[in-house]
Amino acid sequence: MKFTVPRGTRDILYPEIVLWQQIEDRARRIFSVYNYREVRTPIFEETELFERSMGESSDVVQKQMLNLASQKVDVDGKPLLSGLSLRPEGTAAVVRSYIQNNLHKKERISKFFYIGPMFRGERPQKGRLRQFHQIGVEVIGANTASPYLDAEVIALSVELLKSFGLKRFKLKINTLGSSSDKDKFSGILRSLLEPKISLLCDDCQQRFDRNVFRVLDCKNKRCRDIVNSLDINYSYLSEESIQYYEQVKAILRDLGIEFEESMSLVRGLDYYTHIVFEIAFDSLGSQDALGAGGRYNNLVHELGGPQVDAVGFALGIERILLAGHYDENTISSHIDCFIISMESVGLRQAFILLNKLRSNGICCDLGYIGGSIKSQMRMANRAGARFVIIFGEEEIKNNEITVKDMNDGSQKRISLSNVLQYLKEKL
Ligand code: HAM
Repeated sequence: MKFTVPRGTRDILYPEIVLWQQIEDRARRIFSVYNYREVRTPIFEETELFERSMGESSDVVQKQMLNLASQKVDVDGKPLLSGLSLRPEGTAAVVRSYIQNNLHKKERISKFFYIGPMFRGERPQKGRLRQFHQIGVEVIGANTASPYLDAEVIALSVELLKSFGLKRFKLKINTLGSSSDKDKFSGILRSLLEPKISLLCDDCQQRFDRNVFRVLDCKNKRCRDIVNSLDINYSYLSEESIQYYEQVKAILRDLGIEFEESMSLVRGLDYYTHIVFEIAFDSLGSQDALGAGGRYNNLVHELGGPQVDAVGFALGIERILLAGHYDENTISSHIDCFIISMESVGLRQAFILLNKLRSNGICCDLGYIGGSIKSQMRMANRAGARFVIIFGEEEIKNNEITVKDMNDGSQKRISLSNVLQYLKEKL
């Protein structure tokens, strides 16, 4: 029987894993500079949490939710896993946690970050997986709807991407306005699209009723042409919403952050109000969004929490890796020392030395499988060892070892009891 990873998922092995660790380390460093704290929520939650937050009509809820199913029953006789889904995104879970832990009573503003796997039952393709990974941020707190915070969050997303070595990405921003602005906008859009409804793609004909905004970012050529021909403007926005949007843009300009305004940027999830943004990387093809986010001032309340404001975003790690074209060949491993032993007697002493060195913080490994000096030297080279310690027949008799300096090839016999001191001085 042969097992393979489930479709749309992948193993992340060495050396690629080093790239992941570098990205995660850089992200963590920047989060601490920005004063964001990590939150870890379960990878599955009640299905209804996602339905209520992202919206019943969103593509994710309609088509991509991975629901858990099992015949097992709990001690109370209820099905163990019914009504649960793998998380398709992080925002809903962070909001659930914020409410459940009463954080609004404990801190004025909560600044979260998370790094972890998300799950969507999509048709896999380049940059689109069923298990993918996000680096995300959520800022939640009463009366925190400040254009400065929107700008902080956008600046943070840009800073993260730059720290991963990415340059040619494009930040697109838009505003959806308040909830009532959004209602007005959907009315206007419906009346503009109504005469052309039969020309829209099948998906968009359904979106017309369910979530008309999504017609604006449909990738279908004919729908795009129709959208481009519409006379869309910001007439539906209230004066406050316009002012808010203008302020965010002015602050971004102050920070020297380049952006493009895009009225067709509406985002696929229902919870957004006011600022929405997306960061695209052209050469990624149809899955070109490295990340996206926006403000969602009503979601916490809609999910049963207090009326507090919130803003956030998430970046997709797989797409960052695709965009970065990182060269795995430049990744090399290094250890301080590799121990080679030629005899079984030597192996025992070598193993004791290995553990002594390790407990003193020296990174080392041992050629457990034996073999010739040559083949063990090859292992040492592959491990990137700075020093090689050889337990040969002669050496063991005299309670000595040979240390080879891999930088200059020089060798030295030293007493076994002096090895630790010797390496400490050299490393
Ligand atoms: P999203 O636009 O659904 O937003 O996802 C954010 C990013 O996750 C995308 O731009 C993309 O890089 C990555 N992504 C999404 N789906 C996949 C997939 N199937 N395969 C690979 N990468 C994927 C959200 O998830 C919101 N929760 C963002 C947010 C946070 N808004 C406010 N706070």
